[in-house]
Amino acid sequence: MKKQTYTATTLAGLEEILAQELIEIGADEVQIGRRSVYFSGDLKLLYKANYCLRSALRILLPIDSYKIFSADDLYQRGKNFKWEELFGCDQTFAIQSTVFTDLFNNSMFASLKLKDAIVDRFRYKFGERPSVDSKNPDIRINLHISNEYCTISLDSSGESLHKRAYRLDQNEAPMSEVLAAGLIRLSEWDRKSDFVDPMCGSGTIAIEAAMLANGIYPGSIRKDFSFRNWRNFNPELFKQVEEEVQPVGVQPVKISASDISRRNIDIAYKNAEAAGVLKFIDFKISDFKVLEPASDKPFLLFNPPYGERLTPDDTNFYAMIGERLKHHYSDATVWIISTPQCLKSIGLRPSRKISILNGSLECSFRKYELYSGSKKISSLGIGADK
Ligand SMILES: C[S@@+](CC[C@H](N)C(=O)[O-])C[C@H]1O[C@@H](n2cnc3c(N)ncnc32)[C@H](O)[C@@H]1O
Repeated sequence: MKKQTYTATTLAGLEEILAQELIEIGADEVQIGRRSVYFSGDLKLLYKANYCLRSALRILLPIDSYKIFSADDLYQRGKNFKWEELFGCDQTFAIQSTVFTDLFNNSMFASLKLKDAIVDRFRYKFGERPSVDSKNPDIRINLHISNEYCTISLDSSGESLHKRAYRLDQNEAPMSEVLAAGLIRLSEWDRKSDFVDPMCGSGTIAIEAAMLANGIYPGSIRKDFSFRNWRNFNPELFKQVEEEVQPVGVQPVKISASDISRRNIDIAYKNAEAAGVLKFIDFKISDFKVLEPASDKPFLLFNPPYGERLTPDDTNFYAMIGERLKHHYSDATVWIISTPQCLKSIGLRPSRKISILNGSLECSFRKYELYSGSKKISSLGIGADK
């Protein structure tokens, strides 16, 4: 099968994780970029990437790449491209642009230029044109311009891959499914120790942990991918991918998720059901202030509430988390994502700190290793976060 070069996009900070995932599914020539990873593979690998990758947002197939020096260059080159080989007048399309250049005032203008070029080519060739559907197009075109470098790609994913199709409802601050999956990989959870999210909100972290531990890929839930609308879509090949990636030899692991809010636990429960992982997660309504560990050496990963600015309430709340961990979670491994300001109030010294964006907010993902015994506690650095 013909090999091609693809670009997988991701969130800032997850590039290395995505590269690892790509190597695991058999991608070649894996190279890390900014919020993206380049790789090569055949059509089957493209299907597999969309189906299996947990930390990717989109998988793009670059189809034309060149230098432009004016808006008209984009139009002319776009008009000369053989779009009719990729889709027809009976299909809808949309263009998503990212533009870092003085040639266009905004990305909308660049999208419009390319749209005009495509439409004019179809009109010239066939006397009719495909329609634009910005919400649910058959064909998604991705335009990226950086200075004079322009790359046009076909977006094989369609809606961003963080939309796994299991989130039926959400709490007030849900975490992106891609970020949750990426944090679990970054934490190097061994998929054997008991996993706990004690502030689970709509359940994203626990659901992603259950999917990872049980070899359930995002594609087994989400059925919709843009490559299904491509001329070269091969249903047999896609079926092969679905059959080949079935989970094998999975060891059961205990996953617990709790939250102070009954409403959030109801939401998380429904989402876990939709993801097919309800049987792997124990849900419970509980204030972390009184939550006891259910096992000897639990692995906690969570994102407590935080705002853009630190308030006195935040300081007390994070101090409570630190106290609870110190006095009730000896022998636990704990990873918390929050703002650096909030995390200071925890009063424990982290053994690792990773800077990461959650949405647009600069966050820190920190590891705290707790040990039983007062001597060990002091010698292993449980003290103020310096
Ligand atoms: C930022 S949200 C977590 C979002 C979650 N990761 C998700 O993807 O939906 C923080 C959660 O902590 C919960 N929470 C706040 N105080 C709590 C406490 N004392 N004990 C347990 N949960 C608490 C809130 O109800 C909220 O659902």
